[in-house]
Amino acid sequence: MANILVTGGAGFIGTNFVTDWLVDPQADGVVNVDKLTYAANLHTLASLDRDERHVFSRTDICDRQALDALLAIQRPRAVVHFAAETHVDRSIHEPANFIETNIVGTFTLLEAVRAYWLTLDRGARQAFRLLHVSTDEVFGSLGPDDAGFSEAAVYAPNSPYAASKAASDHLVRAYFHTYGLPVLTTNCSNNYGPYQFPEKLIPLMIANALAGKPLPIYGDGLNRRDWLYVADHCRAVRDVLARGVPGETYNIGGGNERTNLEVVHAICDLVDEMRPDAQGSRRRLIAFVPDRPGHDRRYAIDAGKLAHELGWVPSETFESGLRKTVQWYLNNQAWVASVTSGEYRHSIGRDYAT
Ligand code: NAD
Ligand code: DAU
Repeated sequence: MANILVTGGAGFIGTNFVTDWLVDPQADGVVNVDKLTYAANLHTLASLDRDERHVFSRTDICDRQALDALLAIQRPRAVVHFAAETHVDRSIHEPANFIETNIVGTFTLLEAVRAYWLTLDRGARQAFRLLHVSTDEVFGSLGPDDAGFSEAAVYAPNSPYAASKAASDHLVRAYFHTYGLPVLTTNCSNNYGPYQFPEKLIPLMIANALAGKPLPIYGDGLNRRDWLYVADHCRAVRDVLARGVPGETYNIGGGNERTNLEVVHAICDLVDEMRPDAQGSRRRLIAFVPDRPGHDRRYAIDAGKLAHELGWVPSETFESGLRKTVQWYLNNQAWVASVTSGEYRHSIGRDYAT
């Protein structure tokens, strides 16, 4: 049976990608490679425990020997690369991990994959793909009236996170032009949905609203993001993997631009509706706090290329996706408690790969 190898498959988007992928009984198996940092949760993948098509390996993408061994044993037909350090605030306080995983890790993965790819026969080499999952943050900040970022947008990263992702995008591009490795890159806007670690805006606000804690809004709350429901992102990645042209990049976005204040108001209203509070609206908990340094004012994506070339359009509106998300967090408060306590990291789970 053919396999794909997914890095970062125990994180927010990776978990959603792997579980969505395996819904199809005909789908190839998944070799899930994840270091299990604070952001990962193997328990999330427990539903796959009885699915023999899912193989988990606790591996750091900076470990060349381990990657070589995995590739030689598992012989994937494609690699989908999600693994990264992803939280902008952490990158401001402690940038070193971002350089290590996002730049050195991506380089190490590219080198391991290139060596493996050269061992394949001609047909398998042509069919092979490495899909690098990246972000719209590499393009910097838009002015109020600018058109959304297209694939031709100039790189202008403003945080250590964005700069590390930009560097990884450049390395991936270079491996196509220099070595002919058949790579694809996607640059996506802000995701939200089930299994997102509650340090990011939407899950943090849901958790704090439920707990009656302050809802910290950076600056004036008028920074804008283009929100995409995670299942729509995962479907876009599947489409690009199946039908994207090697060497090309594809921008993915929801067409759902909102200010942070609008997002937090919408969350408060949904939490009030689903769990009424005798003390009144959760909007009372909003607290304006000092701004994030280098805080990008506005992101928006022009996803026209993906729509025209691959027929992808998002299926969730912001309202439908946010409602599902708030409901999921209300129904899964034990999950939130377990990922924030760090307790799960003592339980590593199964490791079949090496
Ligand atoms: P996440 O932080 O939830 O998960 C990252 C995963 O990578 C974790 O499971 C972690 O354990 C793993 N990881 C970290 N360092 C590793 C290493 N050295 N070796 C192996 N595994 C390692 O991130 P996410 O939000 O799911 O993002 C996944 C990818 O999508 C990232 O590349 C990110 O840049 C990109 N992206 C995210 C968003 C978003 O809104 N979340 C938007 C666009 C692009
Ligand atoms: O655009 C894609 C990017 O989206 C991904 O590449 C990143 O991995 C992902 O973390 C996300 O980055 P952001 O910085 O946009 O996401 P975050 O959830 O941290 O913040 C969203 C907005 O909300 C941003 O303008 C900062 C603001 N914010 C965030 C937090 C955590 C607040 O006002 N208060 C908060 O407490």
